[in-house]
Amino acid sequence: MITRSDRHLPTPLGMIGAGNIGSTVARLARGTGVEVVLSNSRGPGSLVDLAASIGLHVSAGTTAQAAASDIVVLTVPLHALPSFDPHLLAGRIVVDTMNFYPERDGAIPALDAGATTSELTAAHFPDARVVKGLNNIVHTHLLDLARPSGAPDRSTLPLAGDDAEAKAAVIRLFDALGFDALDAGPLREGWRFERGRPAYTLPYAADPEALLASRPGERPEGTRPVGAETLQRALESA
Ligand SMILES: NC(=O)c1ccc[n+]([C@@H]2O[C@H](COP(=O)([O-])OP(=O)(O)OC[C@H]3O[C@@H](n4cnc5c(N)ncnc54)[C@H](OP(=O)(O)O)[C@@H]3O)[C@@H](O)[C@H]2O)c1
Repeated sequence: MITRSDRHLPTPLGMIGAGNIGSTVARLARGTGVEVVLSNSRGPGSLVDLAASIGLHVSAGTTAQAAASDIVVLTVPLHALPSFDPHLLAGRIVVDTMNFYPERDGAIPALDAGATTSELTAAHFPDARVVKGLNNIVHTHLLDLARPSGAPDRSTLPLAGDDAEAKAAVIRLFDALGFDALDAGPLREGWRFERGRPAYTLPYAADPEALLASRPGERPEGTRPVGAETLQRALESA
């Protein structure tokens, strides 16, 4: 487990969900020293080829094996949230990448009542240390914009959460993956970079209008780096 004195990245990194975002994060972890356990709903057998294609640092596991990691990236469709055992992620730092797409996820009354998506996650996993992050950038842009620490064109990603130690660990994870981080505050503030807000995907797109007009799965490729000041302005204008 992470302690206050532990300044190092925990490894392995557990991935619950091995689709666009899960596999991209696994790719970004190559060369960082972080081992990745990929999992999905169909079991490790369905992930062996994908893991091998990404690199020796990636293995295929069950969701329980991925959930045994100190940091777990939960990156599944939001409608899958109720299917998980609420104790699965007890004590874990959970990076919640999930967004609400009503056409995919259906109606969720708690969102209509004012909850943020990551508050739903935290309510479902009451013993997890939920940090919202990696949700506001298209997966191809995430892969394209990763840069080493100190690069002048490094991009910044927002995060939000109620646990300072968990956020510090996620900031170290972002750094290893190739990004600076901007702390947007407590989990409640996660609405500032939810779908439809100015900080959601558009700042990282070379052609925001084309991205707005596109459909999931057909996102335009071009990117532009996003520094902390630009991201801060987008968060404040939400
Ligand atoms: N795509 C993006 O650019 C992007 C960017 C930021 C955030 N997000 C958000 O991040 C989340 C993941 O997006 P994605 O595009 O990576 O999705 P995706 O490509 O559809 O992949 C979803 C993954 O979740 C797994 N999964 C679904 N239900 C599961 C369950 N009950 N238990 C374990 N694994 C389960 C799927 O495994 P099976 O195939 O075996 O079911 C699959 O590996 C979504 O909430 C999305 O809105 C996406």
